Amino acid sequence: MKQQVPFLDLSLIDQELKSALEQKFSEMLSKGIFSGGEEVDFLSNNLAKYLNTDNEVIPCSNGTDALEVALRALGISEGDEVIVPALSWISTAEAVSMVRAIPVFIDTDTSGLMDLGLLDKVINPMTKAVIGVHLYGKMLDMEKLVAWGKLNAVKVIEDNAQGFGAHQGGKSAGCWGDVGCFSFYPTKNLGALGEAGALITHDEQLAKKIRMLINHGQSFRDRHEMLGRNSRIDSIQAGFLNVKLAYFKKWQEKRKILADIYLQNLTGVGDLILPETILGSEHNAHLFVVQSNFRDELKQYLEDMGIGTAIHYPTIIPKMKPYLIQKEFHVSEIWSKRALSLPLNPFLKKNEVWYIIEEIKKFYSKTS
Ligand SMILES: Cc1ncc(COP(=O)(O)O)c(C=O)c1O
Repeated sequence: MKQQVPFLDLSLIDQELKSALEQKFSEMLSKGIFSGGEEVDFLSNNLAKYLNTDNEVIPCSNGTDALEVALRALGISEGDEVIVPALSWISTAEAVSMVRAIPVFIDTDTSGLMDLGLLDKVINPMTKAVIGVHLYGKMLDMEKLVAWGKLNAVKVIEDNAQGFGAHQGGKSAGCWGDVGCFSFYPTKNLGALGEAGALITHDEQLAKKIRMLINHGQSFRDRHEMLGRNSRIDSIQAGFLNVKLAYFKKWQEKRKILADIYLQNLTGVGDLILPETILGSEHNAHLFVVQSNFRDELKQYLEDMGIGTAIHYPTIIPKMKPYLIQKEFHVSEIWSKRALSLPLNPFLKKNEVWYIIEEIKKFYSKTS
C-alpha cells in the first residue's frame, strides 16, 4: 500500500520535547531577555561540554555568518585566495566572496569530500586559508588538512555546518582548525527553531576578535574597537538549542540504527553506491546519500510512491551563476548528477525505512 514518507517533517517532534520547548519559551517570555543573557552563556558551555573541548564556543546568528566572521577575524580580505570544495552548499564560497577574497575551487574525491591531494596544485603566495567541509556529516581527514595548513602557513577553517556530533580520533568535528563554524539551521542534526550558528577557536585573541565582530566591534557596551556587524544569536534560539541538546545523543543513535537498516538491505541492489562509512564515529549520519546512474528516474519513482528525497547538490558551486568558472571539476560534477539523499532523521519510523527499501528494490526490478 502506498505510504507518504516526507524527506523531513520537523513538525513530527514528540510531545515531550514540544512541551519542553513551550516551557522554555514561556520562561523566556516571563524573563523578558531576548538578546544575550544566560541562555546564550549556557549554550556556549553546553556545546563545549558536548564537544568535549576547552576551545571557546561563541554562538552566533547562523552558519553563513560564522564563516564570514571567521574569515574576517583571520584577516582574510580583498585579493586573498581561499581554497574551497566545488561540491558544497553555496555558503562555503559565498562567505569568501563576501569578504572580497577569491574562492579557489578544487574537486572532490570519490567519497564526495574535498580532495586534499589537490591542495598542492592550487596553493600560491596569495593562498591565505582553506575551508574544509564535513559534507553530509562525514569528516575530512583533519590530521592531514591541519598538517598541510601548518606546513604551508595557510589558515584552516572548518565548515562544520553538517558535521555536528562527528569525531575523529576522539576529537570533535569543528575543533580541529583555526576556527570551526557551525550551523544550527532547523534541518541540521542539532537544529534550532529558526536560524542559529556558532564559532569555535582555541586561540583566545581570535575568540576575542570574533566576539567583537559579531557585536558591532564592541568590547563593552558602546565601546566600538573596530567595525563589526550584528551576527548575535537570538536568545530564544539559544534557549531552544539548550533544550534540544539533551535529546541529541538519543537522536544520533536513532539515525545510526536507521542507516544500518538501509546499509544492510540496499547493499548490492541495482547500481546503488552506499555511504559505507556512515556508521563510524567520523560520520554523524546527517544525510544518507546514495549514488546511481538512474538518480533522476529513481527520485521520480520514489516521489510517485509518496517518498520524499533530496539532492545535495544538483549544481556544483563553480557552475552557479555568481561564479560560472570554466574549469572542469569532474568528480564533483559526477556527484551532482548521481547523488540522492534518502530520508534519514530521528522522526522516521523503521517501517517507513522498510517501505523505502522495498520501493527501491521494485524500481530496480523494473529497470533491469
Ligand atoms: C556545508 C554548509 N555550509 C554552510 C551552511 C550555512 O549555514 P546557515 O544555513 O546556518 O547559514 C550550511 C547550511 O545550510 C551548509 O550545509
